[in-house]
Amino acid sequence: MYHIFSFINPMSLKCAVQLQIPDIIHRHGAPMLLSELVDALSINKERSHFVYRLMRILVHSGFFLKQKIPITERDEEEEEKEAYLLAPTSRLLLKEEPLSTRPFLLAMLDPILMDPWQNMSKWFQNDDVATPFHITHGKSLWDFASQEPRLNHFFNEALVGDARLVTNVVLKHCKGAFEGLDSIVDVGGGTGTVAKAIAKAFPEINCISFDLPHVVNGMEGSKNLSYVGGDMFEAIPKADAIFMKWILHDWNDENCIKILKRCKDAIPSKENRGKLIIVDMVVMNNEVGSDESLETQLFFDMLMMTDTTGKERTKKEWVKLLLDAGFSDYKFTPILGLRSLIEVYP
Ligand SMILES: C[S@@+](CC[C@H](N)C(=O)[O-])C[C@H]1O[C@@H](n2cnc3c(N)ncnc32)[C@H](O)[C@@H]1O
Repeated sequence: MYHIFSFINPMSLKCAVQLQIPDIIHRHGAPMLLSELVDALSINKERSHFVYRLMRILVHSGFFLKQKIPITERDEEEEEKEAYLLAPTSRLLLKEEPLSTRPFLLAMLDPILMDPWQNMSKWFQNDDVATPFHITHGKSLWDFASQEPRLNHFFNEALVGDARLVTNVVLKHCKGAFEGLDSIVDVGGGTGTVAKAIAKAFPEINCISFDLPHVVNGMEGSKNLSYVGGDMFEAIPKADAIFMKWILHDWNDENCIKILKRCKDAIPSKENRGKLIIVDMVVMNNEVGSDESLETQLFFDMLMMTDTTGKERTKKEWVKLLLDAGFSDYKFTPILGLRSLIEVYP
């Protein structure tokens, strides 16, 4: 039963986020009584007494904390003795938080990305359609995003908070990876969060954020930042280095080798500072146990199977892929929790 109903935790959280409960409690600035929360919510007031049940499961799953308020200070009704606070990490659910995971949560739990899970077994039995996403929507994720502005928007927004988080860590702990470069291209750079941060941290580096035309159309660059639309399977703008975050995990080995070869064409030799800087998961070796980090990596692997043709790779699989694509040297730096920075040389 626990496994069957585990989807109820994220769906309850999604409901709370859509009702803006984290923002309302945060703005309140003190433990918030249920009655105060109910008053502040834009809901049908006849549904007010259901709010307690939503909060109860979210307190149980650790997103909110419950605090007892001394009865003398407050109303005497039984339910008024408890008030809600944000759990420390739940500030990541706030709208105004720069590293917010709110858009990521809303995107990943949107029906466009949830419906393909219903078609996974059909996909296993099918022999010509590439992914469960394709079965559900009749086209690949990237083609659908180019035609469906809502998906394009929420998908790009979903990645902004994560790109900020990753760039903060990378620029703090791996600054050396960028030193001495004159130019860099962020391949599949989305709406440019990473390129903007590199351009700011290194005013001497010319940065290009490269993505499909529907993603970069209308984006404005700055002195050392520009946007280029194109297809990474065709050609990638030339630069000293190429950055790729969460790109290769979207593709099977055959397509990764094509992308990596285009990357190799775009950069100079190792002696002339040519390199790739990849941020992606490296699946942990230990395949047993209930460790949450490994489980999250396995969730991502299944997500890649459902929505794209990609996969999450172990270190051994990464090394084989990089060598097969003609690169000669690499360095793994596991600094991002589930993900690593991988520097790769021609
Ligand atoms: C998972 S997202 C990662 C975005 C960004 N690197 C990040 O991590 O925040 C993959 C990106 O690859 C882009 N993409 C997909 N196919 C592409 C292609 N053929 N050429 C260039 N970019 C592509 C998508 O538009 C999307 O922005």
